[in-house]
Amino acid sequence: MSHAFDPWSPEFVAAPYPTYARLREESPVLWFEPSRQYLISRHEDVNALLRDRRLGRSYLHVATHEEMGRSAPPDYQEPFWTLNDNGMLDREPPDHTRLRRLVSQAFTPRRVEALRPVVQRLADELVDAFVAEGGGDLIANVAEPLPVTVIAELLGIPEADRHALRPWSAAICGMYELNPSRETAEAAVRASEEFSEYLRALARRRKDDPRDDLVSALAAVEGLSEDELIGTCVLLLNAGHEATVNVTGNGWRALLLHPEQHLALQEKPELIGTAVEELMRFDTPLQMFERWVLEDIEVRGVTIPRGSEVALLFGSANHDPAAFADPERFDVTRRDNPHISFGAGIHYCLGAPLARIELAASFGALLAKAPGLRLSSEPVYKPGYVIRGLKSLDVSVA
Ligand code: HEM
Repeated sequence: MSHAFDPWSPEFVAAPYPTYARLREESPVLWFEPSRQYLISRHEDVNALLRDRRLGRSYLHVATHEEMGRSAPPDYQEPFWTLNDNGMLDREPPDHTRLRRLVSQAFTPRRVEALRPVVQRLADELVDAFVAEGGGDLIANVAEPLPVTVIAELLGIPEADRHALRPWSAAICGMYELNPSRETAEAAVRASEEFSEYLRALARRRKDDPRDDLVSALAAVEGLSEDELIGTCVLLLNAGHEATVNVTGNGWRALLLHPEQHLALQEKPELIGTAVEELMRFDTPLQMFERWVLEDIEVRGVTIPRGSEVALLFGSANHDPAAFADPERFDVTRRDNPHISFGAGIHYCLGAPLARIELAASFGALLAKAPGLRLSSEPVYKPGYVIRGLKSLDVSVA
């Protein structure tokens, strides 16, 4: 097996962790010409750079494209970038601070906590139907519908419109892979136009006729422009389900390939808390996040000049023996688990409490109601690198 970092190769996607081990040991800061980025693979460095204000998810608050030695994205991509740049994730302070505060006014811990019984009921219903069928594809039948329905309910997307959410989201997320193709970009642009138009109309309806949902609450927030409101809704809808689907799939794959861990969790359901954190660590759903370098920095003796891009390898950080005892061991009882799957610093995942509720509910329901869950075919990963998830996960419940 090749141990070169080649995120486009099927071998790497099937098993990235041995390559990360070599990177961490031999070249923890490595210039990678194909994506023109510095790869950062150690936990300590990834964690520190996420918190370092000399880096940003955007540079447009301090410099133009030209000043950073970059070219502006082509005009035809404008609808995608407008949508992307109006969500808080790709903003930096002071705008990020303002947006995150305004969105937090509507997306409150109380609103999230109130969802707990709703999420549990939904997980139970989905799992009951799945068990009655004798199993099938766990991704399509449980992993996807749970977070998609929860986030759609939370925002107040009418049921009849929800079928469009996954295709829009998938098309937009194509842009977050390394070096997206023209075809991928065009599909993302089309989806951005349709999604924005849809949400603009919905937000206007809710502004005039508010309901008890997040779109109405956001429409009522003072100081949020209409484009920011739309960018926020799309961010919540996309971030609010993509990774959760993949933690569910990757997590069940790990459990089914480690029957002793599956059994341990079945015998002690109270381990669900540590188990969810371990599932998020062991097969990291978002393998990499990027940052722009806004001032020259030095990492492990390597000077990284302003205008560079760093790729923070979360999947590698989560398997670093300097941060985790015996990191290649999958252990649902692991207590000391400083995984980085929700990020760190100012962009730390706003949805982490909701994601944890969803994961505990769906894993709990399947453990209780489908004790004999077994793989019926070898699970295959989707081809992307950044977003790590399975195409399908075929299981039987007998
Ligand atoms: C297991 C599931 C999830 C994972 C692994 C995950 C992971 C992440 C990570 C790593 C970031 C930071 C990215 C960066 O620093 O560059 C982030 C940000 C964010 N996530 Fe999540 N997320 C999950 C679920 C959710 C859910 C359910 C929601 C919403 C309901 C959500 C909403 C957000 C938002 C709004 C941000 C941007 C925060 C900011 O820029 O300040 N996420 N997420």
